[in-house]
Amino acid sequence: MKTRTMTVAAALFALSAPALTAGGADDDNLTINGNIEMTTKAEPAAHLDGALPEVISGWHFRSDETQELEMDDFDNPGMIFVDQAREAWNTAEGSEGKSCADCHNEPESMAGVRTVYPKWNEEAGEVRTIQMQMNDCRENRMGAEPWKYDASAAINMEALISSVSRGMPMDVATDGPAQETWEQGKEIYYTRYGKLELACASCHELNYGNYIRADHLSQGHTNGFPTYRLKNAKLNGQHSRFKGCVRDTRAETFSPGSPEFVALELYVASRGNGLSVEGPSVRN
Ligand code: HEC
Ligand code: HEC
Repeated sequence: MKTRTMTVAAALFALSAPALTAGGADDDNLTINGNIEMTTKAEPAAHLDGALPEVISGWHFRSDETQELEMDDFDNPGMIFVDQAREAWNTAEGSEGKSCADCHNEPESMAGVRTVYPKWNEEAGEVRTIQMQMNDCRENRMGAEPWKYDASAAINMEALISSVSRGMPMDVATDGPAQETWEQGKEIYYTRYGKLELACASCHELNYGNYIRADHLSQGHTNGFPTYRLKNAKLNGQHSRFKGCVRDTRAETFSPGSPEFVALELYVASRGNGLSVEGPSVRN
């Protein structure tokens, strides 16, 4: 029985596009605006325990044309949404009549924040994503409606916060009070889902560099999020990406904002520790 499903999975990978290039990742260098030097290949974190010989940004698996769009803010279509978020940052909302700027000054005050999220929040006793923290500010400090998880307004603001950390290395904590959530995320990462019995690891750990249909598989890192996708011409959140990936295995999936996806976000971020924050990146 198992053999048959595995054959379906094997066939998926075999339907590969043109000439497979061994190893997959190219040797290009990523510099943004001619002055932000990006680390796109890094030493694997100890917890990976040899699972990846090198940690490689998804940027290396995209075509030259897609790569180039990320190299200059004037060409990066994601920056339009960052500009929209800059406006929202300065706009008062909610019963307290406050804007983000009233408490946080310039968005540049958020430099470094993206590198450590998801992060344990002591007072709340939970691991929080940036979106959860922003909604906490909206509900409890501004008296405003929370944003729906991965809705455009939330993603655009997350992209603004990410953009001011570009070039800084991802550095989420996997130990201490965050460890339990991290372990839950790890378990999800290695669980085989759906009719095709595929785990995240089946594609992003065992088959990166190979083609699946016409798509060049990366290691599935999240340092580039939010991601502008040419496919839907908007910024995309991590949980929406996870959802799409799980759907491709023909499985039922968790919802954006669910505790399972928060845990997965932490675990996947930790696999990419050491890679520069790229968000908003450009992908196909
Ligand atoms: C009335 C003041 C106030 C407003 C308005 C406010 N915040 Fe906050 N924000 C805070 C405080 C205080 C903290 C620290 C809370 C904590 O550590 O638990 C914080 C923390 C954060 C953090 C986490 C920073 C870190 O270092 O971990 C983010 C991200 C954030 N706010 C985003 C926003 C955004 C986006 C808005 C507007 C939509 C906003 N905040 C509006 C007071 C505010
Ligand atoms: C059937 C194969 C497959 C499975 C299983 C799969 N993905 Fe993906 N994933 C893809 C493809 C194809 C892409 C687009 C090309 C790329 O970046 O790898 C992608 C992209 C991604 C990206 C974006 C990478 C970037 O640089 O923008 C992330 C993050 C990701 N996947 C995470 C996951 C997680 C987490 C799981 C498990 C819940 C998962 N994927 C399961 C095929 C898969």
